[in-house]
Amino acid sequence: METTLKNFVIEKAATSRIGEVNFENLSFGSVFTDHMLVCDYKDGQWGTPHIMPYQELPIAPSARVFHYGQAVFEGMKAYKDDEGGVWLFRPDENFKRINRSSVRMEMPEFPEEYFFEGLKTLLKLDQEWIKPGLGNSLYVRPFCIATHAGILASPADEYRFMIILSPAQAYYGGEVRVKIAEKFSRAADGGFGYAKAAGNYAGQFYPTRLAKEEGFQQVIWTDANTHEYLEEAGTMNIFVRMGDTLLTCPVSDRILDGVTRKSVLAIAEDEGIEVEVRPIKVSELIEGMKNKQLKELFGSGTAAVINPILGFGYKGQQYELPKIDDDYATRFKERLTAIQYNKAEDKFGWRYKVL
Ligand SMILES: Cc1ncc(COP(=O)(O)O)c(C=O)c1O
Repeated sequence: METTLKNFVIEKAATSRIGEVNFENLSFGSVFTDHMLVCDYKDGQWGTPHIMPYQELPIAPSARVFHYGQAVFEGMKAYKDDEGGVWLFRPDENFKRINRSSVRMEMPEFPEEYFFEGLKTLLKLDQEWIKPGLGNSLYVRPFCIATHAGILASPADEYRFMIILSPAQAYYGGEVRVKIAEKFSRAADGGFGYAKAAGNYAGQFYPTRLAKEEGFQQVIWTDANTHEYLEEAGTMNIFVRMGDTLLTCPVSDRILDGVTRKSVLAIAEDEGIEVEVRPIKVSELIEGMKNKQLKELFGSGTAAVINPILGFGYKGQQYELPKIDDDYATRFKERLTAIQYNKAEDKFGWRYKVL
């Protein structure tokens, strides 16, 4: 055991498991590093964060998280440049977002200093798990769960905040054809679609499986009231290129305020691309297919950065997007990854140095 200046308790793993891992063949989110961060909330306050060997949790079967889904999470990546420098991309956004999610799920907010000091200490300890090279990264998963035992349907008094780390390779979303939702919804007005809360994801699995049975890979979520407006692309934000104008819908209480989305918007503005942030009707896509103005559809998110959508299904009809040169999707992906991997100037101040 040792303690740092910040009084974090650090308990190192006796041996590393890194030698057992094939970094050339990683299945996303299935391998975890040697350490994890744990911090418990009790009696109205957060205790001292503790870094310990990655291990299973002792937790009561009656813990509220299992029954009422009080659980929030985040997803970001650490990147290693060719000189061995380790970087995060806009982690302040993830920090603010997990606390916004916690507030909505009636959970305590996590202190900023614990988040950043904890994250840096953990990444430093497991830095060998971050491989250099474009596409390689260490996926960082902060999350918080209600650990309070007892199945009373009310907010818990005890919580556990944790950070676990999983090495990842380039995420290729594959050939994506999407079904535009006509019946199911992901989120509703006044709900918690904007929160990265566990239940938002469980609720997508069933409609997504039905869409897969029809030959699609994902669902484009539409508004719950009319199903006439685009909202999100699976677990990504959605972008449309109409002519040379880039469209995306505004964030709201139904939509996750994606870090990649806001970065794409800033890059588009920087490149002088015309951007419209406004509600987008499904009928505009159909019209755009007819008059050939619909040039691209893509999702944005931490995992894939930008994931082009090749086609979509709506009201029993299939639509295939044209293949074009100089697509925005590739342009945005290249600019973002160059910043993330410290290969380009960071004029926006998005990179956060860990090591
Ligand atoms: C529902 C949803 N929308 C959008 C995103 C994209 O957000 P970000 O760019 O911050 O990863 C995510 C992934 O985090 C998500 O889960």
